[in-house]
Amino acid sequence: MVVNIKTDEEIDLMRQSGHLLAKVHEELYAALKPGISTLELDQIGERTIRALGGIPNCKNYEGFPASVCISVNDEVVHGIPSSERILQEGDIVSFDTGLIYKGFHSDAARTWGVGKISDEAQKLIDVTRESFFEGIKKAKAGNRLYDISNAVAKYIRPHGYGIVRELTGHGIGKKLHEEPMVPNFRKLTRGIKLQKGMTICVEPMITMGDRRVGWLDDNWTVVTLDGSLAAHYENTIAITDGEPEILTII
Ligand code: MF3
Ligand code: CO
Repeated sequence: MVVNIKTDEEIDLMRQSGHLLAKVHEELYAALKPGISTLELDQIGERTIRALGGIPNCKNYEGFPASVCISVNDEVVHGIPSSERILQEGDIVSFDTGLIYKGFHSDAARTWGVGKISDEAQKLIDVTRESFFEGIKKAKAGNRLYDISNAVAKYIRPHGYGIVRELTGHGIGKKLHEEPMVPNFRKLTRGIKLQKGMTICVEPMITMGDRRVGWLDDNWTVVTLDGSLAAHYENTIAITDGEPEILTII
């Protein structure tokens, strides 16, 4: 396993890439309202990425047909935008998107409610986001990779939610997916030692019911098998000598 360590100059480029991506997420959130289709949201995302000088990194990734993965309700990740998918008040929607800028990738996901949503759905969204922040408290040089995974899992556990195991976070840099894989569930080994200059995506995918997922016939959309709601929250972070730097939040 080769984990690429980035120089300060490379981290600066990743920061530029990540800060542009944060703006893309702002635009997506601003456009989210009942009645909009997921295809329109994808177009807003792609237009924003390109206007900022970026290249969408989801588009054509292993054949994925859009720039933003848009996953609604029981869809966990990799939902394909469609003109026929019209969002309704009460839906929850995950945007997972990324871009390449000056040769470096950034990747981030957010889950939002459309209009007024149930308290239970809002709690799932909030706990999923909080689990990311709990996880990255352990993202320090000298700690071990799975300290992050275990911290995410420990935070989720008392809520009784499911943690998706089939998909994980990942290293990121000149490629969207680099070593190492970053699981969100408890591991019985500690993983590699974290070092300054590592850049990783931490991205808990959490379900309200059973953790098991399946794939729709489109061969992309990952859904919960029991039909329960799912939330996703992701940022690209850099390991430093102190606190981790979140590159995809301004
Ligand atoms: N951005 C996502 C990730 O975390 C998914 C990219 S794959 C796609 O890796 F093809 F679905 F876009
Ligand atoms: Co990712």
